Parts: sequence; C-alpha cells; structure tokens
Amino acid sequence: MNDIKAMITGIQGYVPEYRLTNKELEKLVETNDEWITSRTGIKERRILKGENQGTSVLGAAAVKGLLEKTGTDPMDIELIICATVTPDMPFPATANVIADKVGAKKSYSFDVAAACSGFLYALQLGAQFIQTGTHKKVVVVGADKMSSIVDYQDRTTCILFGDGAGAVLLEPTTDEFGIRDAILKSDGSGEPYLHMKAGGSRRPATHETVEAREHFAYQEGSTVFKFAVTNMADVSAEVMERNGLSGDDVAWLVPHQANKRIIDATANRMGVGPEKVMMNIERYGNTTAATIPLCLWDYESQLKKGDNLILAAFGGGFTWGAIYVKWAYDPK
Ligand SMILES: CC(C)(COP(=O)(O)OP(=O)(O)OC[C@H]1O[C@@H](n2cnc3c(N)ncnc32)[C@H](O)[C@@H]1OP(=O)(O)O)[C@@H](O)C(=O)NCCC(=O)NCCS
Repeated sequence: MNDIKAMITGIQGYVPEYRLTNKELEKLVETNDEWITSRTGIKERRILKGENQGTSVLGAAAVKGLLEKTGTDPMDIELIICATVTPDMPFPATANVIADKVGAKKSYSFDVAAACSGFLYALQLGAQFIQTGTHKKVVVVGADKMSSIVDYQDRTTCILFGDGAGAVLLEPTTDEFGIRDAILKSDGSGEPYLHMKAGGSRRPATHETVEAREHFAYQEGSTVFKFAVTNMADVSAEVMERNGLSGDDVAWLVPHQANKRIIDATANRMGVGPEKVMMNIERYGNTTAATIPLCLWDYESQLKKGDNLILAAFGGGFTWGAIYVKWAYDPK
C-alpha cells in the first residue's frame, strides 16, 4: 500500500500595506466601529492599492517569500495551485501568472474556485498529487483581492472583506506527519445567497449590469451566517470523530475568518478552548481563500511538531470542509 503523505514544510503570508479601518468605513457608509466590532470582530482590513495590481501580486509575494524562506529553487516546483475567486482575469489562470512572476518555469499551474473554502480544496488537491508519488514539491496558495469585487456603498458586505494571500509548500513524507484526513462538501443550491450576479457567461458585462452594481459580491448575510454556524461546526466535529480526536487532542483550530461569532460557535462544538483558536480577523477581515494560510503564518512560531490541527472553512457555493493536519516541524 502507498503510505506517502503530504506535509506542509513551509508557510508564508502577504498582506498589502494599506489599512482600511472601521473609522474610515464610517465615512463611506452608515456604520460604526462598535457595530462592526461586536457583530464581526473586525477592526481593520488590508487593501491592495494601485493601477493594474491584481490578485497575482498578492499571491506572487507570498509564494516568493515562501521559496526564499524554505530555500527552495523555483525551478524545483512542479505544480502551483491557486485558490481564488478574484482572478486577475477570467483566463489565463492566476496560478499561471504567479508561476511566471516567481520564476517557476518548470511548473504547471491552475486555479481552484471554491470561494472561502478554496484553500482547503486546493490543499487537499495538492496533497493528492504528492500522495500518488508523482510530485515532490507542490505550492498551494490562497489569494484574493476582495476589494476589487466589494461594493463600498453596501454596508452589509464592505465591512467584512480584505485583501491578502498565503502559501504553503507541500512535500512527501512516509511518517505520521502531514495532511491526514479531509472532508470537503458543496451544495450549489446555496448560490442565491452569496454570489456575483454578473460578469460571467450567464450575464456578461453590459452598461446595465455595471449601472445596477451587479459586479460586486452579493450576500444575504443572515442566511449565510446560519448555514456557516451549523455546517462548519458539523464537519469539524465529523473529522475529529473519524480520527478519534477529542477537544483535548486538538492543539489548534484554524478556522476561516468570516465572523468571530461563527468561529466561537465552531470551537464550542468541538470542545476546543479559545486559547487554542487561531484568530486574526480583527486585523485582516475576511480575505476569502487567504484566511487559513494567513492564520498559519501568524501563528507559525507557536506551532510544534506533532500538533494536531483542524482546518475548517465554509463559503460561497455553498462550499465547506475540514482538514486534519499533524504539523511537521518545530519553530525555526
Ligand atoms: C453580515 C453580518 C455581519 C450581519 O450581521 P447580523 O447580525 O446578521 O445582522 P443583520 O443582517 O441581521 O442586520 C441587523 C441590522 O443591522 C443593520 N446593518 C447591517 N450592516 C450594518 C453595518 N455595517 N453597520 C450598521 N448596521 C448594519 C441591518 O441593516 C439591520 O438593520 P435593521 O434591523 O434595521 O434591518 C452577518 O450576517 C454575517 O457575518 N453573516 C455571514 C457572513 C459571512 O460569513 N460571509 C462570508 C462567507 S465566506
């Protein structure tokens, strides 16, 4: 039997300089810091400014930093998978652009679209390429420039999202570390509650779609909230049960950062105390495919070899899932 597993051997994040604070949002829409903080946990988000600066700028910065940090020659990368819902353009894939920017000339590359669960989907996909024994170095990057599809006249969505990217290097191992289990799910009937109305093949861009502000993320927040609370908690509990893990066995919950109240409910259901929950939503908001790798990056110095991590997410689609990872290295 093939007992190769994929382990994460490096993590790197990137967030742009500009900080969009709750105070600044108060000038754009009718809202206030108290409302945003108590309903979401968010204080500020990072925004990528400048002409012609797409998601690949964020993704390439994270991947470049990852390769430098891990001492990896870009020419040794065999595959780059980019999870994003804000590609530079419909085609080519943003992963292709990132590969070019970082000099991964021997790599092939493609994008994965699974909204806020995108990083989990891409991680599991990347892991499978390693597990088959055909690939030795795979990069998985979650990157989104949400500010490009956020309507700064809509107070129910513009407070939530920010820009960022995070990347991991996957390499093979035959010991107990790495990506040990994954449960990924989707339900396309969730489309009406979280989507972008126009800009795709069903409703290409016209003057009318632009005037109707249909090129922005549309969300029915309370429906998404109810869905997220139930399903993110369910799938996290399921992956723990399947692997015989109790709350005490879990060193860290690494949750998608959409809303602090959703994260708290998930941790509660898993029996994991708040001290074991990675959280950076107050500084970055919801960066869609980048939230989970940005958390791993922020907390890297606290992670120890052998730690059991549960990565959990939900998002547009609907999509959701949980991945069990046994962390493979001590702080360097
Ligand atoms: C968006 C979200 C924060 C809204 O919080 P909520 O507690 O559900 O609030 P509601 O939508 O019920 O709105 C409550 C009131 O606050 C108002 N409100 C909405 N946004 C506001 C804002 N930014 N500032 C002040 N008031 C606001 C609403 O208009 C509503 O007013 P009303 O009662 O007079 O109609 C919450 O629904 C949420 O987090 N949903 C999930 C979002 C998510 O995770 N999306 C990403 C998926 S990956």
